[in-house]
Amino acid sequence: MSSLLETKIAARQHALREQGLLRQRKVLSVDHALNTNASTSSPRFVFEGRAYVNFSSNDYLGLSRVPELAEALHLGAQTYGVGSGASPLVTGYSDAHLALERELCALTGHEAALLFCSGFSANTALMKTLFDQQDIVVADKLVHASIIDGLQDSGAQLKRFLHNSLESAERLLARNQTSALITESVFSMDGDCAPIAELSALCRQHHAWFIVDDAHGFAVLDGYRNVEAAKLIDVQVVTFGKALGCQGAAVLGSQALIDFLVSNAREYIYSTALSPANAALALAATQYSTAHPELQQKLLENIALFKQLCREANVPLLGSDTAIQPLIIGDARQTLQVAEELRAAGIWVGAIRPPTVPVGSARLRITLTTAHAAEDIAACVAQLAQVLSRVGVPLVTERQATDDHR
Ligand SMILES: Cc1ncc(COP(=O)(O)O)c(C=O)c1O
Repeated sequence: MSSLLETKIAARQHALREQGLLRQRKVLSVDHALNTNASTSSPRFVFEGRAYVNFSSNDYLGLSRVPELAEALHLGAQTYGVGSGASPLVTGYSDAHLALERELCALTGHEAALLFCSGFSANTALMKTLFDQQDIVVADKLVHASIIDGLQDSGAQLKRFLHNSLESAERLLARNQTSALITESVFSMDGDCAPIAELSALCRQHHAWFIVDDAHGFAVLDGYRNVEAAKLIDVQVVTFGKALGCQGAAVLGSQALIDFLVSNAREYIYSTALSPANAALALAATQYSTAHPELQQKLLENIALFKQLCREANVPLLGSDTAIQPLIIGDARQTLQVAEELRAAGIWVGAIRPPTVPVGSARLRITLTTAHAAEDIAACVAQLAQVLSRVGVPLVTERQATDDHR
């Protein structure tokens, strides 16, 4: 007889499979003949013996393959060892961590920073530690799962405003004595940007803190990576796993906030610190991206090329101007089918399904990077146009599908 948990697991997996929502990992590898270490060629990987051009990574500037950064990681490991060896308050906090924190503060104008091993833990730690049952928190409907999880754990009362709607945000702020308003700089699944200056002004007016998850904006959107950032944003979460091409995250804010987190954030206190080698790498990646503005420029050119080719081929996109270019299909199974057909042509795009996005808004999430070659972008669009018309997908282009719920 099966145990209770075996029965539960089997039933849930069966239901997910039936709905086309089962998630499975894919083992990717590197083909050295494809010259995958060259930061100048389109990102490629090998899956089950076949090579694909990768249009689904968040390595927007192609930094994960820059030889100087591999060297920085190597040097960091030689200097400090391959791990931190302890939690930060024991012996896991080094001058490599401090140097990165200082660099991030110098770039954004915030007083202090705290490093985490991932953006997910930075967000949950921040929410869980900062808020409790006495707080009312207002957040955009599409904020990341890590923010929602942290808020749920905190016990705070969460109120959601319509995606990127100033009117809806203001209504909630006016009706509730709000501790903070939370949004993302660039939305991870839609690729659009929050109205940062306007939301900041609303927060100031209502004496609420303004918290921005800058995971997909940092190092790609100049607007929030300058000393002005701290004037608009009270707490900024930046991650190193997207445009910086490596791993980890930081919460940036006032010294008082960071001291509070150091004393109270359980994810920080009771977890092995980010390795100093990774801190050294993130510092090198931050400096590299600052020293090479042409990478951002090339990314913008690639985004513009992709959008122009899609327009010419009547491929309907969602209207994003960032590296994240969603194409809403609606049905989860059809989205998978389109993604699979693209794979048959050697093009790998993300098939994003509920619960990552609202029911009825399953989509292809195509991401552009600095490293994509123009001919690969053209091939991607040509295949997209062919596959969409072959599969006969009823395309949903209106935004209302994403405004339902998350
Ligand atoms: C908006 C947003 N915030 C936070 C995270 C978590 O960051 P990390 O991947 O470093 O855990 C992600 C990752 O997908 C994200 O998209």
